[in-house]
Amino acid sequence: MSKIKQSFEDGLNTITTLTGLTQADFDLLRQAAPQALQWGDDIVKMFYDTLYEHPRTAAVFEDSERPAREQTLAVWYQSLFEVNDVNQFLYNQARIALLHIRRHVHNEFMVGMANKLRLLFSAKAVEAFGPEEGLNVSNAFSRVLDTVVGLTAEGYDVLSKSALSRATGVQETVIDKFIIRAVDEVEQELLG
Ligand code: HEM
Repeated sequence: MSKIKQSFEDGLNTITTLTGLTQADFDLLRQAAPQALQWGDDIVKMFYDTLYEHPRTAAVFEDSERPAREQTLAVWYQSLFEVNDVNQFLYNQARIALLHIRRHVHNEFMVGMANKLRLLFSAKAVEAFGPEEGLNVSNAFSRVLDTVVGLTAEGYDVLSKSALSRATGVQETVIDKFIIRAVDEVEQELLG
């Protein structure tokens, strides 16, 4: 197995262990699909209204890109309710993670938007299914989202470091040491 594949597998293993994502989450989402699929339009609108309203996130997009982005997010949202193979789903998310990294979508943007998605989905789930079942459905959705965001964050980290290492010839362990040293300096400057 190539080094990058092994590192991806390790990352996946850690992320899914920490979030607790399993096929049971996708099975529950599938049961909730008749209701949840009706929330897609609201979710997509909220998502892009938020991103286009804030200058740093709006700057990621090109003019006139919004309809295409709304369409791909709507298709992705629908796809969450028909997953039969967690591993295949995660490999597909790796492609999506790389698209984000290429467009400089920072990790904090992903985390912030995952939270917005979670809150809206959760409010709708509780309204549709009641507090108990609504929470179960919402927790399943959360585990999916956190895994997807975790994958992107891990990818950003691993790729940034390996790209820097390849470009400079400096070993990743040495880069790690530079980072720690930089943290010490930043801490001094920031918190003094
Ligand atoms: C939880 C957070 C997010 C999820 C689940 C998500 C999901 C997606 C999906 C499914 C696609 C389509 C991939 C495809 O073509 O099949 C996409 C593309 C894209 N997303 Fe996101 N996204 C998230 C956050 C963000 C944020 C915060 C930004 C910008 C600030 C962003 C910017 C983009 C851009 C620019 C593309 C197009 C990439 C390309 O094809 O060049 N996304 N996203």
